[in-house]
Amino acid sequence: MTFSVQDVSVSYPTSRGWVQAVRNVDLQIRPGELVGLAGESGSGKSTLVLAATRVLKAPAVSVTGRVEIMGQDVFAWSDKELRAQRWQTFSFVTQSAMNALNPVMRVRAQMHDAMRAHDPHYQKAKADKRCEEVLRIVEVPAAKLDSYPHQLSGGQRQRMVIALALLLQPQLVIMDEPTTALDVVAQREIIALIRRLQRELGFAVLLITHDLSLLLEVADAVTVMYGGRVMESGRSHELLRKASHPYSRALIHSFPPLHGAMQRQEGIPGTPPDMLNPPLGCPFAARCVMATKECGEQMPPLTRYGDRLVACHHVSEQDFQGAGVIV
Ligand SMILES: Nc1ncnc2c1ncn2[C@@H]1O[C@H](COP(=O)(O)OP(=O)(O)OP(=O)(O)O)[C@@H](O)[C@H]1O
Ligand SMILES: [Mg+2]
Repeated sequence: MTFSVQDVSVSYPTSRGWVQAVRNVDLQIRPGELVGLAGESGSGKSTLVLAATRVLKAPAVSVTGRVEIMGQDVFAWSDKELRAQRWQTFSFVTQSAMNALNPVMRVRAQMHDAMRAHDPHYQKAKADKRCEEVLRIVEVPAAKLDSYPHQLSGGQRQRMVIALALLLQPQLVIMDEPTTALDVVAQREIIALIRRLQRELGFAVLLITHDLSLLLEVADAVTVMYGGRVMESGRSHELLRKASHPYSRALIHSFPPLHGAMQRQEGIPGTPPDMLNPPLGCPFAARCVMATKECGEQMPPLTRYGDRLVACHHVSEQDFQGAGVIV
């Protein structure tokens, strides 16, 4: 596995108590795979990856469970090992990606800094060649290397951040909403670029976005989170055929499809749970059209059906029977 998250829980200590932002989450990414992580605002997506890559650590959060990147125990790395692995083995484009660029440094100098920090045989001419190469990869003219971040368009800045993430050829690239600051057309262009690069260069990607319809089109597999928990995960083509969890279905219907006629989108009625006092049962029960008494009282276990994992009292083996077609 390139990336493996095992039974990870993350809580934030606050003056009002512990915010249980992520609860018992599992997630796996095989080499060269593009895996999507979806869920509404507050479902715990950023918390999961920030804790898993040790951007967030104690005392700001409490983390339990295990995370492996390329088979190595991330929580066992010393700070020095972590710095050595970051950018080289894995890179992380955070949700505030624009902040990844230093506003008072030209892009070229920032890229050189990253290369100098990791390569004991750093040479200026070789590094310049690599800068031009990554700019070609993300389709930005090489002349822009000598720009300051504010001289670039939003889309170009975003591409520069992706170029920086690919600079040292990591095997895993984690991207948290890399496109939220862009308009819909630019957003989808960037996602298509990420998909193409990932196929051509062979690195694995964890891509976080609210837009489950988009993820199902581009990702190999998708995990849907809500209230800090995994609600459903599976291969994209199977989820596209039929999502099983009522929350995944509601989320799919709250975004426009990539193809076909435009139609009015319905948001999901209701609001997400308070993670200071998360509900005892399924976190989605209060908003779920299928909810029964049991749903409010008991968290359904995440259950495997072939390649699919679903945590819902109303999904059973029967739903997956019949010539491999989900009915
Ligand atoms: N520093 C913090 N202190 C306390 N609670 C926090 C902190 N950061 C996040 N939370 C809470 O943790 C939960 C998960 O937040 P998180 O940012 O991980 O969600 P998300 O899925 O990334 O949402 P979005 O789509 O808006 O980025 C939310 O309930 C949020 O209010
Ligand atoms: Mg987030």
